[in-house]
Amino acid sequence: MPSTLSDTLRNLPPYVFAELDRLKADARARGATLVDLGIGSPNLQVAPGIIRAMAAAGEEPTSGAYPPFRATPGYFDAIADFMHARFGATVEPEAEALALSGAKEGIAQLVFALCNPGDVVLVPEIFYPVFARAPLLTGAEVRWVPMRPENDFVLDLDAISAADRKRAKILIANYPNNPTGARVEIDFHERAVEFCRRNDLLYVSDMAYSELTFGGRPAPSALEADPDREVTIEFHSCSKTFSMAGMRIGFAVGNHDAIEALAAYRTNVGYGTPTVMQAAATYALNHYAELVPATVAEYRARRDAMMSAFHAAGWNASPPPASMYLWLPIPEGTDDWEWVRTLIDEDGIVVTPGMAFGEGGKGYFRVSLVRDRDTLARAAATIGARREAMLQRA
Ligand SMILES: Cc1ncc(COP(=O)(O)O)c(C=O)c1O
Repeated sequence: MPSTLSDTLRNLPPYVFAELDRLKADARARGATLVDLGIGSPNLQVAPGIIRAMAAAGEEPTSGAYPPFRATPGYFDAIADFMHARFGATVEPEAEALALSGAKEGIAQLVFALCNPGDVVLVPEIFYPVFARAPLLTGAEVRWVPMRPENDFVLDLDAISAADRKRAKILIANYPNNPTGARVEIDFHERAVEFCRRNDLLYVSDMAYSELTFGGRPAPSALEADPDREVTIEFHSCSKTFSMAGMRIGFAVGNHDAIEALAAYRTNVGYGTPTVMQAAATYALNHYAELVPATVAEYRARRDAMMSAFHAAGWNASPPPASMYLWLPIPEGTDDWEWVRTLIDEDGIVVTPGMAFGEGGKGYFRVSLVRDRDTLARAAATIGARREAMLQRA
């Protein structure tokens, strides 16, 4: 086989998570036991009804056949019912929805389907990696949209230059947000939809954390701001909402032409999404109102357990309104990697440096709420004490 990677793959910027993996491996080789709050992989049990639905689908005589390219009839219906019940959005699922093996591959495939080399994609300056890596893999260019703490991590669309507006094809937004835990109200989506209409862009809304909000106010869908689906496509995922990350199931919904483009790309590279997973996700979406509250309550309790321990350690960190992450400032006077390395090497706690989410994340670190409350509270007490020690030293 040829000995080198393709130029595009070779020229991608280094993956910060690879460096984190190296630090973890080194610590483990030295005999350390780590509490890994780095990756956002859910540790909650999948609801029994979801498992039963998956098992029943597996027992169907044709469960081993290729799935339909777009979605099973049951999953189409579940997507339409969920979008209507949860967001008041009316969609024609056969024309405006698509099953995906996760939002991540869908977002990448949409970019591959739409972008030519030299096109521009507008990406939040603090971003889930695929938002930038997919454009770079196609030879498209990324322009960063400011996303600042002083603006509660809401994208500043006004800051996008006239030249970038003209060249751009896609605007990507992600609320509720990974990693910052920020959320937006419908007025943001209205501004984004208007921005995309005026500048002839596609608005890609990533709602992987759609249900994980803590204030009692559910997060709005971008489709609520674009009822005719003129410029908007939205990505949903069962990974976090139903703790089904390992089952790889989600969906895209919205603008018909964007769905067609995504379907066209997918038809060339795959066979659709496994039927048994669509059956599991159909059950999940059809029962979201019963299943989601316990998950949200658990993440909320975990968040609060950590915040209490931080406060007890003298740190008045603010709790995020959404997501399954804490996004916290690195102690003043400490270098980002030094902070992360110290927590791993001295305290056996793995967190993610904010830089893993782009230059905009510098000066922050992310904690994933993927352990039980007691473990998280103990980790927070340790992190709080370590922060105090670093501040004293600085
Ligand atoms: C913002 C965001 N979008 C998408 C995903 C991936 O979703 P899926 O598991 O459905 O591919 C993640 C996972 O962490 C995420 O944080």
